[in-house]
Amino acid sequence: MLQRRQFLQSAAASVSAAGLGGCDPLGLIAPTNNLDIQRAQYNVMPNLLTTNMVSLSADAPPPILRAKQGVPFTATVTNRLPDYTTMHWHGIRLPNEMDGVPYLTQFPLGKDESFTYTFTPPDAGTYWYHPHCMTMEQMALGLTGALIVDETENPGFNNDIVLNLRDFRLAKDGQFKELFTPRGAARGGTLGNVLTANWDQNPVYDAKAGGLARVRILATDITRIYKLFLPHTRGRLIALDGHPLLTPLPWPTEQDPLTLSPGQRVDLAIEMPEREGEELSLMAQVGGRGRNLARLRAVGKPEQRKLADLKPLAPNKVSEPILENAETHEFVFGWSPSGDLPNNGFCGTLGYTFWSINRAPWPGDASGTGPLATLKMGGSYILRLRNESPNVHPIHLHGLTFKPVRSNKRTVLPNWTDTALLLKEETLDVALVADNPGDWAFHCHVIEHQKTGLAGYLRVA
Ligand code: C2O
Ligand code: CU
Ligand code: CU
Repeated sequence: MLQRRQFLQSAAASVSAAGLGGCDPLGLIAPTNNLDIQRAQYNVMPNLLTTNMVSLSADAPPPILRAKQGVPFTATVTNRLPDYTTMHWHGIRLPNEMDGVPYLTQFPLGKDESFTYTFTPPDAGTYWYHPHCMTMEQMALGLTGALIVDETENPGFNNDIVLNLRDFRLAKDGQFKELFTPRGAARGGTLGNVLTANWDQNPVYDAKAGGLARVRILATDITRIYKLFLPHTRGRLIALDGHPLLTPLPWPTEQDPLTLSPGQRVDLAIEMPEREGEELSLMAQVGGRGRNLARLRAVGKPEQRKLADLKPLAPNKVSEPILENAETHEFVFGWSPSGDLPNNGFCGTLGYTFWSINRAPWPGDASGTGPLATLKMGGSYILRLRNESPNVHPIHLHGLTFKPVRSNKRTVLPNWTDTALLLKEETLDVALVADNPGDWAFHCHVIEHQKTGLAGYLRVA
């Protein structure tokens, strides 16, 4: 185990070495992001200031961070809260020590402590960031933001619009209700009641009339599995969970919506209407009816762009697993003998366990048990995800990219991902090459499930 002080220092040292380039004529060094985790307040509901939120500024949602594919990215995160925290970069294949998982890859940050994260994203696409310590509170109170990794070559859209989908659990006075319930944690999770995009209810964004808009939708809610659709729109799905689609997905309609579970992202290319002022809606099915989440409004003199002219996005370079001799590891997601959970670290527990992987509930945020599996560096593997429970679970793996290969319940599409929704009683095989060394967190992204036992890690060595 690293000593805490030594660890913080070596992380800081490696960053200043990277940042001391002096001149940077090619613009290859990303600007340093100084991110202060702090209390915030915001008008989530009209004319009602919601206080006690968590963000990176006092009065706005967490910003969209931008990185460039293949270019070093640096963010210094400082904790201004009294509680401990860390920051995680969801979906990015980065060095293990930059992954932001408390006790597994770094020590939690106390008040006024900083950690400098630096990594060079190998993959372009739509990713995100969130804390991985005190996750239940800090994410529920707002700290989930987009991290966009731009392609080395501009893909040529007229607009690039980010929709960070979140629910909040607010009372009539605009203040937070209890963030979770034991009943929710033991079932599908506790849903929020105020649906937002970028912390606003049904906001409208301008896009070039007749232009091609790229719309990045991020499901960063802690619980909700979105059923998304866009009525009457000419568009195409171009990427899922950061990666350009290898196998096309159908355009989501009211009858056949797109399921986007917590942690997942989808990128759309949309041909905007040519008539100035015309609006498009992104909608979700909630409780049996369509709800507006956000709108796009056509503005300006019409461009004459056509979807058909759009070049496909360049694929990210992900190693293709060789299935013939891939070793299979099975993971069973189920209940745990429900019990009280001792608080064994600084990152908070909900106080009880309900869930488990391979029958062992993860004992809170501090590591107590060993890896669920050890994968050999460079080997091809099949992870057999077996759901013994009557609930669905978006299963997320850090640091590695995998693809679904088969299911006992449905036809799966082999698109690269970091978060796969496991259906009730489904057995889903996913395949990967274990090409990034380290201890990689592996958990359900319904945060109440993660925090009540449905978590663990895989070791690549
Ligand atoms: Cu997005 Cu371990 O998480
Ligand atoms: Cu992650
Ligand atoms: Cu779950």
